[in-house]
Formats: sequence, structure tokens, C-alpha cells
Amino acid sequence: MRPFDLIRFKQSGRPITMLTAWDCLSAALVEAAGADVVLVGDSLGMVALGHATTLPVTLDQMLHHTLAVARGFTASHDQQPLLVCDLPFLSYQCGPDLAVAAAGKLLKESSAAAVKLEGADPEIIAVVDRLVRMGIPVMGHLGLTPQAVHRLGYRRQALDPVSQDRLIEQALTLEKTGCFALVLEHVPGELAGRARHELGIPVIGIGAGDDCDGQVRVTADLLGLTPHQPPFSPPRLNGRQLCIEALRGWIQEHQSSSPTTAPPQAEPDC
Ligand code: KIV
Repeated sequence: MRPFDLIRFKQSGRPITMLTAWDCLSAALVEAAGADVVLVGDSLGMVALGHATTLPVTLDQMLHHTLAVARGFTASHDQQPLLVCDLPFLSYQCGPDLAVAAAGKLLKESSAAAVKLEGADPEIIAVVDRLVRMGIPVMGHLGLTPQAVHRLGYRRQALDPVSQDRLIEQALTLEKTGCFALVLEHVPGELAGRARHELGIPVIGIGAGDDCDGQVRVTADLLGLTPHQPPFSPPRLNGRQLCIEALRGWIQEHQSSSPTTAPPQAEPDC
């Protein structure tokens, strides 16, 4: 799977599926399930590293997890899902040179074929422009952008007409600058539908209604492994409870079948 395949899918009306992975086990699951795109999202900071936000995630951590994800794929390289890696907070916001170094490291040292970054302010557009001209495919991300949590919160975004027009304008600018797809997170469904119709690149939604070219979910939320799932991403499985029950069952079985007599005491050396 390659970035331009997603544009072809949009043109032919084939829905796109994208799931996150953070290690080889989750990668093997989402690959076997048939996801078109596997995102090593910086949500791994919360899902796998226990942080309260995505901000502490480093470039080295993203690379470490992307390498683990790639090792989890079993299909031959050309049959594998498209592997996209998030550029973590402050690896690209400080200018195109740093962004090229960060994205280049991920693409050179892992089999990621594209990066995702958040926002569309003029500084970010300059970064996207440079990355795309350097041959690095870029996926945009607008709406709720978790790296801006201290400014925007985890609230639904673009609720009024002015901010909706602004989001559409930013989406069109990202497309014009060369992004091959756009994630829209936690925005009204009608706005995502409008973006979908105005853009030639696929709009991949999460908490953005059904009128999108594709959907993305954080796999740990979908499997019910995280303690709390966001309201727009209900679990499909009570994974956490099922895992705890399986483990508890093993512990109880082991405890009840263990020998009750204490092992013989070793003779003291002296
Ligand atoms: O980091 C992530 O998992 C994401 C998805 C929510 C799109 O960016």
C-alpha cells in the first residue's frame, strides 16, 4: 500500500481503514484484521507509555515503536499496510530543517512510508511544503489536535461557522501544499462531509461522523483495553475485563493446584 493508493480509493469510493499500533503484537493484530493504513500514533504516549498527554513523546521513542510495529507485520513488504508515523511534539514545529531531519530519520531507519503532523498555521504549511518537496509523504491532522491540548483541550472543535470556514480553508491549503490525506478529529459530521466533498485527498475521520472517505481508531480504545475510551470511540470488545478474567483464572488455578506442603528446608552452611 502506498500513499497515492489512498487517493485512488477515494476516487473509486472505496472506504479507507486506519488503525493504530504501538508494538509487534498490536501490529500483527491490525495487519491480520486487514487495515489499509497502520498509524504509529503519538497516542502511544498515553496508550503504551502511561503519559497523561502526547506531549512527552520523543522522536527516539517514535522510532523505537515504529521499528517494533514493522517487525510485527507478517505479509511481504508490498502486501503490508501503509505504515505512517506521527511526528511528535516539537520535532517539526521549530522549522523545516528540524522537520526534515526528524521525518527523514523515521523514513530512513524504519519502514514507515509517510509521516503525520498536526495543524495548518503558516509555520506548519512551510514544514509540509519542505517535507513534500524532499520526497516525504505527509498526512495532515486538523480539528482536535492533541499536541495543542493546552490551547484547545480535548473538546470537540470547529463548532461555529467562522471556525468551520477556517478549517476548510486550512484543509484546502494542506491539500494544495501536497498532503496526501487528512485526519479530521472530533469535529461535527457535517463539517467533515463538507471537507470530504471539497478536497481531492481522502478525509479520514475519528469522531467526525460517517461522511468521510475513511475512518481511523486508536486500536486500544476499540479493543476496550484503555481504562477510559473517548465518547466518539466506543469499544467493540470488553478487552480489559476479558484479559483480567483470563489472568485471574490462571492465577486462581495455579494457587489452588500448588503443593500445600512447604518445601524441605535447606541445611544451614555453618
Ligand atoms: O496519535 C494517534 O493515535 C492519532 C489518531 C487519533 C488519529 O493521531
